Formats: sequence, C-alpha cells, structure tokens
Amino acid sequence: MRKKVTIVGAGNVGASTALMTAQSGLADVVLIDIAEGVPQGKALDIAQACPLWGSAVSLKGTNSYSDTADSDIVVITAGFPRKPNMSRDDLLHANAEVVKTASASIAGTSPHSIIIVVTNPMDAMAQLSWKTTEFSCKRVMGMGGILDAARFRAFLAWELEVSPADIETTILGGHGDQMVPLPRFTTVKGIPVSEVMKQKRIDTLIQRTRNGGAEIVGLLKSGSAYYAPAAATFQMIRSILLDEKRLLPCAAYLNGEYGVKDLYVGVPVVLGKDGVERVVEIKLTKEEKSRFRESCVAVKKLVKKLAI
Ligand code: APR
Repeated sequence: MRKKVTIVGAGNVGASTALMTAQSGLADVVLIDIAEGVPQGKALDIAQACPLWGSAVSLKGTNSYSDTADSDIVVITAGFPRKPNMSRDDLLHANAEVVKTASASIAGTSPHSIIIVVTNPMDAMAQLSWKTTEFSCKRVMGMGGILDAARFRAFLAWELEVSPADIETTILGGHGDQMVPLPRFTTVKGIPVSEVMKQKRIDTLIQRTRNGGAEIVGLLKSGSAYYAPAAATFQMIRSILLDEKRLLPCAAYLNGEYGVKDLYVGVPVVLGKDGVERVVEIKLTKEEKSRFRESCVAVKKLVKKLAI
C-alpha cells in the first residue's frame, strides 16, 4: 500500500509541499484546512497535474481530520505567515492555538505518524506539538535548518559561479535571527569555503542568510517564502519515506546533547523511517558554542511564554 502524507494548512507552503510530494509519486496526499473549498480545490488542481508527471498517487482535499486517519507523515503548515517588519517570533500566540489544535487532532487520528512542524516560530511550535501529542520525540521534528542552509548554499553558489549541488554546509540553532551558520563546516566540493572566499564576503553572505526570510517578506509585501520552505520540507518527507538516512539540520528534541536539556532546536540529525534516528553532535569552538547557547536562550524564551 502507498504511504500517506497529510499536510495541515493548504496555503502557500502547504500546497507547494503537496505539489512536490504528489509529483514525486512517493505517497498519497491529503490536504486539510479550515477554509472550506480551498484544500478541495487545490487538491483537485494538483491531482489533474499527476497525469502530466506520470504520478499515480491520489489527492484529497478536506476540512475533516477523519480523512487524514492513519497518515504516515503529517506536516503542519497551518497558521499565519509574517508581514513586513514582523519577526517569526511575533506569530507565537496566534500560531500556538492553531498548532495545538492540529496536533491534538493528529494524535487522535494518526497516532503512529511522524510530524514535521513548519509553522513559525518553528522551534517553539515543534516543542508544543510534541507536548500536545505526547509522541516519542523521534516522531516530532521541525523544518528550519535545511531551508537556512539552502539559502546560504544558493548565495555562495551564485558568488562562486559553481553548482549549488557542490556546496555543503550545516546550520545550528533556532530558525530565527539568531541561527548559527557554520562557515567552518562549509565546503565547495570538499574545499573549505575559507580557501576560495574572503572572510568579509563570507560574513556578508551569512548576514544575507540570517535575513533570507525577511528579504522575501519585504519583496512580497504580504505573506512569506514558500517554494524553498516546501522544497526543504519535501527533502525531509523523502528521507523518511525512503529511509534515506540523510544527515540534515532539523529542529530536534535535545535531552543533554550539545549540553542542552528539554528543548527543540536545530541540530544535524539522521532522518529515516523512524523519524529522528540520531542527533549528531559536532565539536564546536568556543565562539560557535556561545552563539549556539544564545540561540537556544532565544528559543527557550518563546517556549516559556507558551507555558507548556
Ligand atoms: N487548521 C487548518 N488550517 C488552518 C488553521 C487551522 N486551525 N488556521 C489557519 N489555517 C490555514 C489557513 O486557512 C491558510 O490556508 O493555514 C493556511 C496558511 O497559509 P498561508 O496564509 O498561505 O501561509 P503560508 O505561507 O503557507 O505559511 C504558513 O508556514 O513558513 C511558515 O511562517 C509561515 O507560519 C507560517 C506557515
């Protein structure tokens, strides 16, 4: 039987993730939203593209969680996106209600699913979803680091005039302004980036990466980025469905790793059929450690406000 992926929220990020999943042919897709007609219409539209892609998966748009029953993966994108001059953190209380309700419904209808949280502020929302569902922490995670890393890779590739496929990097910390890009672990086909680019230029691109989401919000005027967020989410879906065991930066529950306890924050993890199969600890310099701590403090502050 084909796997089933439910996407909560049929807005920009949700519909784009549904499209990429359907196009891959890897799983049937259910799109659920509170807006009546929207998930149904978008699912029908994507379903009519499947013959063109040669994809045999089925799509369903719905307003009822009963249609999402026994999903293998549930992606939560429901909520509100940022507007210009808003940080991801400004969305905390409005989106907490949405994520809490969605998580409780998922726990009831898909008790064995793996949850990927995309709704911002994502790290705190992942922690909320985990608390609400009471799932094993291996089965609840957040999407952030892959997107931030992809932005950094794109900027480096454009500058160096090489394929972005040849750029590798990893990013730690919360999916917010205090993310921790790691130039020390950034390479161009194995060559340290410091060998091919001046430090000042690397720092400029790191700053553009930190501001990557806001740059797009500023251009769009209403709404935030969705194509790259959906592609990053789909990379997680694929690694889980195909048990690829990709090593990817995701928000995962830390219980002592990196010296952090009881907090969801971005770290490199191995993603496979069981979800977060392993948190990979890398040895950090003093400066990297202190930036990571600062980022954790910022996430912790948000979690505290949720009083969960
Ligand atoms: N249940 C289901 N769907 C909901 C609920 C709910 N309780 N509340 C809101 N929604 C739906 C809205 O009806 C809308 O269709 O969530 C969708 C959000 O879509 P967009 O407004 O297009 O937002 P999007 O760009 O997709 O971003 C969603 O992802 O990247 C993050 O910061 C972003 O938190 C935001 C989320």
